[in-house]
Amino acid sequence: TKQPENEPNKKQQQLEDFKVDHEGQDLTTNQGTKVSNTSDSLKAGERGPTIMEDFHFREKVTHFDHERIPERVVHARGFGVHGYFQVYEPLTDLTKAKFLQDPNVKTPVFVRFSTVVGSRGSADTVRDVRGFATKFYTEEGNFDLVGNNMPIFFIQDAIKFPDLVHAIKPEPNNEIPQASAAHDTFWDWVVNNQETAHMIMWLLSDRGIPRSFRMMEGFGVHTFRLVNSEGKARFVKFHWKPKLGVHSLTWDEAQKIAGKDPDFNRRDLWDAINDGEYPEFELGLQVIEEEQEFDFDFDILDATKIWPEEQVPVKIVGKMTLDRNQDNFFTETEQAAFHLGNVVPGIDFTNDPLLQGRLFSYLDTQLLRLGGPNFHEIPINRPIIQYYNNQRDGFHRMTIDKGKVSYFPNSIRQNDPTPAPGKDGGYEHYQEKVDGRKVRTRSESFNDHFSQARLFWNSMSPAEKKHIIKAFYFEVGNVKDKKIRQKVVDMFNQVDHDLAKEIAKGIGANQPTKKNNAAITETSPALSQENTNKSPE
Ligand code: HEM
Repeated sequence: TKQPENEPNKKQQQLEDFKVDHEGQDLTTNQGTKVSNTSDSLKAGERGPTIMEDFHFREKVTHFDHERIPERVVHARGFGVHGYFQVYEPLTDLTKAKFLQDPNVKTPVFVRFSTVVGSRGSADTVRDVRGFATKFYTEEGNFDLVGNNMPIFFIQDAIKFPDLVHAIKPEPNNEIPQASAAHDTFWDWVVNNQETAHMIMWLLSDRGIPRSFRMMEGFGVHTFRLVNSEGKARFVKFHWKPKLGVHSLTWDEAQKIAGKDPDFNRRDLWDAINDGEYPEFELGLQVIEEEQEFDFDFDILDATKIWPEEQVPVKIVGKMTLDRNQDNFFTETEQAAFHLGNVVPGIDFTNDPLLQGRLFSYLDTQLLRLGGPNFHEIPINRPIIQYYNNQRDGFHRMTIDKGKVSYFPNSIRQNDPTPAPGKDGGYEHYQEKVDGRKVRTRSESFNDHFSQARLFWNSMSPAEKKHIIKAFYFEVGNVKDKKIRQKVVDMFNQVDHDLAKEIAKGIGANQPTKKNNAAITETSPALSQENTNKSPE
């Protein structure tokens, strides 16, 4: 649906203050001094050496020399767009989050879509997971929903993330291959971490090559909590459903497009918005009551599991419309800092060990990537409400904090900013009762790595199954180490025997010997090793 002329929202108005239109202006230095010539450096004689005194040359070249910042350690290649979100009806019963109460409120959003593995300049249409990160600029502060286009993840515990990423990124000796899963280290890691089975099925399916960012689902992946004003909490999973439906490329299309137009997905989004074809995504919630936490044959805190929609239906609660392109890629897309820990009252966390680890990682990496502790002041990251606290100084501080007091409590400042406890006050963490020994282990309820992978395989049409098998041929067929290829066959024999037989045929491995489709509770090698380190009871 076409929207009426874009109404400026609070975030847009805030960003306007930082925009500069260079057209029709005299060229100046960064100090505002008009420049007479920017093509010839100042020389001692027409053919003589350039003179140190040339402040314009020095400033221009120095700035250029410092233009690059580190790319994101993962999700380096992305594309951001602006829009707004509205709920369809008040969600008062579920959450006290204010932006989910009033259908008339349009909450500004910034969304960054991304690939995971490739570097900033890699091609769009590679087989990969896609990031789908949304920053809601709410009246109660920023809420970031940092999700992917697949509802599950490779691993169950964030402590494995550096290993996963080292295995999936180009191999360190030669930086090959750039942006594909088709290499020895990745598949070696997979067979040694069999909790990846379900995610690998999704990755090798057509979901791994989306046709358009406008035609992808998005998932918060983790189990979060919603808390209402009575303090009642429920478990929740977040979904984005594209109004245009889910569509993928075929592998042949993806490869050709990667050569002919590596910017295919970002161009599609940019053009659609410029043409007024605004992408729309509906927000869906799956909700589980606290009393039902243990009613399922999987652990609801395990990020390698979906909540089957037949068991827990998705309730559609609102819609996001993306209606505005960015003005400047670097200052908006590149400097955007999403963080799972950016929440508002009414939205809370659970003990999912992948979620818990992510809460540490994002702020930590952004301190480096965005050069210090003040990146919340960068226009794209600013909340639409003013922040007040005693944090001061650091590289690139821009706020001019008035007064002589920067500590709490104090008796000097009138009306000092104070924490606001209580029902409608500051963020109160949900008072979940926790009790346990300190153990470096994983719950046995996380051990079934294959049932849902099989569920996914069985839900595929014949054509989709064929695509998955072909993807195994390409990805695993390119693995040089024969032992690893064989282990892949044996691993996926635990998902489905016929699938494993087909994989073996195409990658020059031995046929799997036994049919092993019964409910598997076997632990992965990595897991068994960890269990041997278990603290004594
Ligand atoms: C970046 C999603 C797991 C660390 C991202 C981005 C997305 C994302 C969408 C890109 C954000 C953007 O567009 O700027 C996910 C999902 C995960 C997951 C859905 C699992 C459910 C993890 C884990 C870790 C991690 C387990 C670390 C322990 C990072 C880091 C970045 C990143 C360091 C770069 C952030 C930046 O430089 O701003 N992730 N991720 N992620 N993720 Fe994750």
